[in-house]
Amino acid sequence: MDDLYSLPTYYDVSFSHEMREELAFLKNVFSQYCKGVRPKILEPACGTGRLMVPLIRTGFDCTGFDLNETALTYLKDKLERNQLKANIFNADMADFHVKDNKYDGAFCTVDTFRHLLSEKQAEQHLITISKALKKNGIYILGLHLIPEKAVLNKVTRWTSRRGRLTVKSAMTMLELDKMKRRETLKVLLNTNSEKESHTSIYQLRTYTLKQLTKLLKKTSVFEVVNAYDEYYDLSNPVILNSKSEYAVLLLRKI
Ligand SMILES: C[S@@+](CC[C@H](N)C(=O)[O-])C[C@H]1O[C@@H](n2cnc3c(N)ncnc32)[C@H](O)[C@@H]1O
Repeated sequence: MDDLYSLPTYYDVSFSHEMREELAFLKNVFSQYCKGVRPKILEPACGTGRLMVPLIRTGFDCTGFDLNETALTYLKDKLERNQLKANIFNADMADFHVKDNKYDGAFCTVDTFRHLLSEKQAEQHLITISKALKKNGIYILGLHLIPEKAVLNKVTRWTSRRGRLTVKSAMTMLELDKMKRRETLKVLLNTNSEKESHTSIYQLRTYTLKQLTKLLKKTSVFEVVNAYDEYYDLSNPVILNSKSEYAVLLLRKI
């Protein structure tokens, strides 16, 4: 069994697929809501810096951390090769230490927040992120909600290319336990550089819209400014409902 996040080149190519809208959304939100010449942005669980690197190029002052040392080494090498600077360190999303009131904004998309498997960890994460933000600081949180009719074993496939490397990805939901609030996902990566494929299986915490709303109310450190869907269209906020599948919340520190 492989760990998708310990294959940073393949992860980075695979998950950079169709990220144009996601990146444009982050740039626009931070430019619009974070004042100052070079807003300070925090990315918990930054991985390979898929989004962070282009944000640094745009002029944001970025800090990121992750638990996966292989991904962090990949990111540090990429920064060095491109003569870019960022503050990168190893830490846990549920228990990390940064200076209070330091950041103008933070972001965590593509279900990364759902890696926190317990309610306590999720609460702790939101509270710590909020402390790290300045007054009225912004947190963008993007995650899938459980659809009304979840389809097991349905495979989502996509192909990504960078230079001579082609990565074919296939993601399957193997199990969904609504009581335990666990989703088990399998990601299969095939590349043109290796004969063997890489299989990674991992669990995420599940959220209905009600459960997510309850968590935000309970922690009461953020207010929801607006919500968006998978199209990341800042000019088109949506009203989430029980049929919503991907939610992007634009949160503001209370
Ligand atoms: C889907 S990837 C997202 C990476 C990056 N944020 C992006 O958008 O491409 C999830 C990342 O979360 C990291 N991760 C999972 N649990 C974590 C935790 N408790 N603390 C810090 N990082 C964690 C993994 O190592 C992985 O890099």
